[in-house]
Amino acid sequence: MNTNLKRPIRKAVFPVAGLGTRFLPATKVMPKEMLPINDRPLIQHVFEEAREAGIEEFLFITGRHKNMLEEHFDFQPELEDTLKSRGKTDMLEKVKSSEMPAGALFLTRQPRPLGLGHAVWCAQKLVGDEPFAVLLPDVLIHAKTGCLKQMVDLYAEYGGNLIAVEDVPRAETSKYGIVDTGGDHSAAMPVKGLVEKPNPEDAPSTLSVIGRYILQPEIFAHLAAFETGAGGEIQLTDAMARLINTQPFHAMRFDGKSYDCGSRLGFIEANLAYALADSEIGGDVQRILGEINENLTGKASIKAVS
Ligand code: UTP
Repeated sequence: MNTNLKRPIRKAVFPVAGLGTRFLPATKVMPKEMLPINDRPLIQHVFEEAREAGIEEFLFITGRHKNMLEEHFDFQPELEDTLKSRGKTDMLEKVKSSEMPAGALFLTRQPRPLGLGHAVWCAQKLVGDEPFAVLLPDVLIHAKTGCLKQMVDLYAEYGGNLIAVEDVPRAETSKYGIVDTGGDHSAAMPVKGLVEKPNPEDAPSTLSVIGRYILQPEIFAHLAAFETGAGGEIQLTDAMARLINTQPFHAMRFDGKSYDCGSRLGFIEANLAYALADSEIGGDVQRILGEINENLTGKASIKAVS
């Protein structure tokens, strides 16, 4: 293979300019990506995943009302001084874990939320002519080894373009980008086609794109056509579909469990899963859940008797 298609992944794009309408009114002022899962906001979870994968430059595609996202990664001297003077070293460590290394954060704006494809296109000048990763902050992946690290390891072998996928129920294919792998089930499945939100009867498989991508810079030429697709938005899936026959393109099943934190149910599920797995509070959370459940079933049986 052309060694140009195996260059290391140093940059990651985080599209954070969406409106988060599914979380209104919570997201009227606060960015969706700042909603916390357990003790840290969504954006910090994905930042940590990218850092684990060796990413050196973090490119945020932001929009109006999103300043809080860059603030979150800044040095907060008053807070750190206060924690230091009170001897709260654990808390201090937690605060420091959300600091961006100097010179590593890059920001650009998407003036209008025209779709994920458009948001990624906005990163073109920052990415330049090299391969890069894209992480959707509203998708969390609970895994021993971060999903992007798993991808970077596989990419080192195969190069080209690589997307993480997982199986979804056939009845739900119309909610996702679906991959056609021609029935291949290997570690790196060659992608033959990609369809955005197909009806279950038209879906080429039940493998959905989950929001982690490694892409070659040639994607920008396709995004620049600004063609609208499903939902009237400029879709990343459509531009990726055009790369398929021109460059190696693989899909990878990852080890771990994904949570769609852009939906209320997925967000609640993720919060429960992350809290239950937390060594400090997991036991108490389990007890509280048991109590809530008992309370509800108790009430239900009283209702049934009366
Ligand atoms: P989503 O479609 O899940 O986010 O996009 P949204 O549009 O904000 O959410 P709803 O549907 O209105 O509730 C996935 C990611 O892509 C970003 C979002 O901020 C989110 O992190 N995005 C989406 C952009 O940056 N620009 C866009 O035009 C669309």
